[in-house]
Amino acid sequence: MGNEIADSSSDEELIEQARQARLGAHAPFSNFRVGAALMTADGEIYTGCNIEQSVYSLTMCAERVAIYKAVSEGARDFVKMSVVADFTSVTPPCGCCRQSLWEFAGPGTKIILANLAGEIRRFAIEELLPLPFDASFLKDVR
Ligand code: THU
Repeated sequence: MGNEIADSSSDEELIEQARQARLGAHAPFSNFRVGAALMTADGEIYTGCNIEQSVYSLTMCAERVAIYKAVSEGARDFVKMSVVADFTSVTPPCGCCRQSLWEFAGPGTKIILANLAGEIRRFAIEELLPLPFDASFLKDVR
């Protein structure tokens, strides 16, 4: 099953879902539209887009919208996420989104970055977030 969901045809599907999700972005301030699609171990896909607000700091990235949608519906076991934006290179997730993905996704979770020109780059979460803080540090705290 691991190989089935890790294959490149499902990468293409995930990129397409992120590309579609991007169209829903609410980005009137930056005009920088981002789409994300998150796949669970059983093949379910949750999508997200960035949502900006006039109080800029309340803006939420596409990646975390997808993560929060998935978690709110009971999904946990994430295996890969695609992120699509319209830029000359691919767009890497911000630090907050890397940390949020790590919270719910184990080592080896794949992050597939794509732009509208067809450039695709793949990373493992541990490449993008070395030495992460997580719940394992809180176990023995008194
Ligand atoms: N943004 C994302 O949605 N994901 C990223 O990985 C980088 C940035 C959004 C937030 C904001 O709406 C816009 O892009 C510009 O920062």
